[in-house]
Amino acid sequence: MPSHVLIMAAGQGTRMRSHRPKVLHRLGGLLLVEHVLRAAQSLVPKSTSVVIGHQAERVRADLSGHKGLKFAVQLEQLGTGHALLQAMPLLRDQRGTLVVLSGDVPLIQPSTLRRLLATHHETSAAVTILTARVERPYGYGRVIRNGGRIIRIVEERDASDTHRRLNEINGGIYALDLEPLFNALGDILRAGAADEIYLPSLVTTYRSRGLPVETVEVTNPDEVRGINSQSELAEVRQIVRQSKNEELMAAGVTIEDPATTYVDMDVNVGPDTVIHPGVILEGRTHVGARCELHAGVRIVDSTVGDDVVVNNHCVIQRTRIERGARVGPFAHLRPETEVGENARIGNFVETKKTTLGQGSKANHLTYLGDATIGADVNVGAGTITCNYDGDAKHPTTIGNGVFIGSGTELVAPVSLEDGAYIAAGSCITDDVPAGALGVARNRQVNKGGWVGRRKAPSDQTTTGS
Ligand code: UD1
Ligand code: CA
Repeated sequence: MPSHVLIMAAGQGTRMRSHRPKVLHRLGGLLLVEHVLRAAQSLVPKSTSVVIGHQAERVRADLSGHKGLKFAVQLEQLGTGHALLQAMPLLRDQRGTLVVLSGDVPLIQPSTLRRLLATHHETSAAVTILTARVERPYGYGRVIRNGGRIIRIVEERDASDTHRRLNEINGGIYALDLEPLFNALGDILRAGAADEIYLPSLVTTYRSRGLPVETVEVTNPDEVRGINSQSELAEVRQIVRQSKNEELMAAGVTIEDPATTYVDMDVNVGPDTVIHPGVILEGRTHVGARCELHAGVRIVDSTVGDDVVVNNHCVIQRTRIERGARVGPFAHLRPETEVGENARIGNFVETKKTTLGQGSKANHLTYLGDATIGADVNVGAGTITCNYDGDAKHPTTIGNGVFIGSGTELVAPVSLEDGAYIAAGSCITDDVPAGALGVARNRQVNKGGWVGRRKAPSDQTTTGS
C-alpha cells in the first residue's frame, strides 16, 4: 500500500547548545536528517515532505541534493503536533498512510518501518506508534497503558513520579491514516491552546473519538534513540561506528584497534586490507583489497585500488590511487590527485590537481600542483611546481620517462617532453624538448683560501683559482 512520509526537522535543538540546527549535525558521514531520509526512502513513498523552521533555508540547502522532497515551513516551532499541521496543505488531496518520522531519531531501520506499517494495516488502526522499552527513559514521552492498551503518552515535563518510573517510551515515529487525521485537525488545534501542540496528544484525541490506536515495540531500542544533546550524539556515534567496524570485519577486513578506527557509513573496504590504529575513512571512500593503511591516516572521498600501502599520517582528499601504489609517510594528497599503478609518493610530498603516471616516483619533499606527469618519471627530492603567479594557476606537463634532478623549480606554464633530463637545482622556465638536458642554474665559483682570508686578513695566502 503506498504511503507518504513526513520528517519533522524544524526544531532548533536548544539542548545541543549549537548554532548548527540539530538535524544538520553529522553522524557517520551523513546529516542526522539524511539518516532518517534514507530509512524513509526504503519505503518507496508516494511523497516525502520535510517540516523545516529553525534556520529553514540552511536545512533546505543542505538537503538540496535529495531530489523530489517537499518542504513545509513552520515559522514558529510550537511543537511536534504543530509541525504536522504545517504539512497538512501538502497532503490535503492525499489518502492512505502517512509515516511521520523525527529528524533527530537517526538509527531507525527500514525493516522496523515495514513492521510498523504492516501492523498499522493489519489492525486498521488510525494511528500506530513505535515504542521501545529502555533502561534510561529520561527525556522521552512515557507510554501509559490501561489493561494493556495505550491510553496516552505523558511527556517528561508533565510526568508524575509514577510516570517517570515507566520504561516504555514513545519512539517519535508514527503511522497515521490520513483521513481521520484531517478530521481530527480541529481538535488538535484546540488542544494547542497551551504553549505547545504535542503530536503524542493525538492518542487522547483519537481515543475520545473511538478511533483505534495501536503500538509496535522495536526489537532493538537503539533504533529509536533520540538525539537532544551533544552527549547523546556521541553515544549514538559510538553505536554507528561500532556497527560499521563489525560490518567491515565480517567482510574480511583486519581492524587492529576498533576503538580508534573511524569509518563513515558509506565507505567500502576490500578483504584482507589491514587498518592500523587511528585511521579515519570518510565520506564516499572506497579502499580495495589487500591494502595496508598505517596509523593516523585520514582518507576523504577517495578511491584506493588493491594492494596499496598508505604509510603513517597521510591526509588524502578526493584522490584516486591505483593498484600497487605506495604513499607516505606524511604525504598530503589534495583534491583531484591521481596516483598511477605502482607509483610512489614519499614523505613530505604535497599534491593538488595532479596526475602521477604509472610507476612514477616523487619520493621526498615535493610540491606538485596542476601537473600532469607521465609514466616512469623520477621527480627528485625538493622539486616544486611553481603553479601560481599571484593571479592565476598554470599547468606543468611532464612526459614519460622524464628525470628531474633534486631541488628543481618548474615555473608553470612549462612542459618537459618525453625522456627529458633536468639537472639538479635548475629553475626551469622554458619547455624542454624530448631527450634534451635542461640546465638552468649559475656555474659554481670556488674562491680558494677565502675562508682563511676572512679569518686572518693580515696573514693571507691564495691557493686555487
Ligand atoms: C518527542 C516526543 C516524545 C518522544 C521523543 C522521541 C513530543 C511532544 N514528544 O520528544 O514523546 O518520546 O520525541 O524522540 O512530540 N520538531 C519540529 N517542530 C517543533 C518541535 C519539534 O519540527 O515545533 C521536530 C524536531 O526538529 C525534532 C522532532 O520534531 O526532529 C522531535 O522534537 P523534540 O523537541 O526533540 O522532541 P522530544 O522532546 O525529543
Ligand atoms: Ca528529540
